[in-house]
Amino acid sequence: MSISLLQGSFIIAGLLFILALAGLSKHETSRRGNVLGAIGMALALVFTIFGTVLGTGTGALDQAAPRWAVAVIIAAMAIGGAFGVFKALRVEMTGMPQLIALLHSFVGLTAVLVGWNSYLEPGHSDKLHYGELFVGVFIGAVTFTGSIIAYLKLSAKMKSAPLMLPKHNLWNLAGLVLFAGLTVAFVLLPESQHVGQGGALGLILLSALTLVALLLGLHLVASIGGGDMPVVVSMLNSYSGWAAAAAGFTLDNDLLIITGALVGSSGAYLSYIMCKAMNRSFISVIAGGFGSDGGVVGEAKDLGEHRETSAPEVAELLKAASSVVITPGYGMAVAQAQGPVADLTSKLRALGVEVRFGIHPVAGRLPGHMNVLLAEAKVPYDIVLEMDEINDDFESTDVVLVIGANDTVNPAALEDPTSPIAGMPVLEVWKAAQVIVFKRSMNTGYAGVQNPLFFKENTAMLFGDAKERVEDIIRAL
Ligand code: TAP
Repeated sequence: MSISLLQGSFIIAGLLFILALAGLSKHETSRRGNVLGAIGMALALVFTIFGTVLGTGTGALDQAAPRWAVAVIIAAMAIGGAFGVFKALRVEMTGMPQLIALLHSFVGLTAVLVGWNSYLEPGHSDKLHYGELFVGVFIGAVTFTGSIIAYLKLSAKMKSAPLMLPKHNLWNLAGLVLFAGLTVAFVLLPESQHVGQGGALGLILLSALTLVALLLGLHLVASIGGGDMPVVVSMLNSYSGWAAAAAGFTLDNDLLIITGALVGSSGAYLSYIMCKAMNRSFISVIAGGFGSDGGVVGEAKDLGEHRETSAPEVAELLKAASSVVITPGYGMAVAQAQGPVADLTSKLRALGVEVRFGIHPVAGRLPGHMNVLLAEAKVPYDIVLEMDEINDDFESTDVVLVIGANDTVNPAALEDPTSPIAGMPVLEVWKAAQVIVFKRSMNTGYAGVQNPLFFKENTAMLFGDAKERVEDIIRAL
């Protein structure tokens, strides 16, 4: 295959990725963005594989691969592809965050393997290459174990409360200092000490770095509390991008460098947006500990009496209302209530009630989780508003329906400076005349923080599965 054909295809794939990101930034264009990204990825895969099989005359793809290697590549793709299809077909929308965390861990592991392979392979001996592969292995290993812990926390296989070892920030700092020291030592090591010349010291340094990075990834994410998980998801997304870019440098593959840098920088920007939404600095997220008051996950403490209501009562309230705001949360995703919620919205609008949605930036378990569900249920985009756009309107709202949301509507974040989520902006639903909370029990939300909203005079609890309760209301209307 000619090098210009390969490079041309890489440029087109890179452009398609940029257009995909641009498309994904708006509801209306997100489907197109997804399709463009998929075409770009198909192009990238096909040309990279053909480049490897046929050889190009440059870089890592300079010689045609031996037959056995082609067979291994095809077998690996078949196994990986089958696993991907199997997982994607079975995953529930609520299982997406943990699946994404798992996929990030694969990117990290790949970067580690690419780095190790490149070190053990004969023929590379310049210092720049040693530096690249060392950094690649470090980012990859941190991403690998960090993503595994994120997977365990997001799938509730591990407590979301932060692991607070004594002097835990010093452990993180020690990890970074060791990384810097080992990198300098590895790059400056005399060539005779590297594995290519029969030396063992290079191998020892690379093993030590891999171990340090694996432990750092474990500790970094384990010490971040449930309340900060949104930032962790986007942060690991960014790390996986930089790990791929580092692998691109090691492999001399321009497209991998471009794609990794796009993922890395867009993930970093998303982390910035998430930090802003939660009123947290990136450093304080890394320092950990936010979002849990020591693991009070479960039954809420007694904060007073709560009032219960029924679906027919809520239906009457809604018929008499002129303005209604719906604030969905993770429970709407669990109940798969978005379809009935969309039906309820159309019914109320047909009755002349103004209905709008208020979306908290970290509602659910993924950035944009609620927007995706509402778009799937064909709720018109123009009535779906961000938290900043709707917060001033609650005072003039007749009824707020809190459907499976908890942490994102918790007044303690603003009213109680000792609350573990103090300072996080929330949807100020309690300012409305009436608030109806749809949930199954008095349990706390993801951050394990109790919610005084449930005990306010203007709040009534509608217990049960959100989908069933919304359907009951539609029937009563
Ligand atoms: P949460 O605070 O997680 O609360 C969800 C509520 O839904 C629970 O209190 C639960 O109460 C209720 N629920 C669950 N299943 C239900 C069902 N079938 N029917 C009715 N209710 C049901 O939700 P939120 O307000 O969306 O907040 C999101 C939280 O997740 C935040 O703490 C955020 O930091 C964190 N987080 C977000 C992300 C991103 S990127 N969005 C990523 C990781 C973590 P019951 O059990 O009593 O029913």
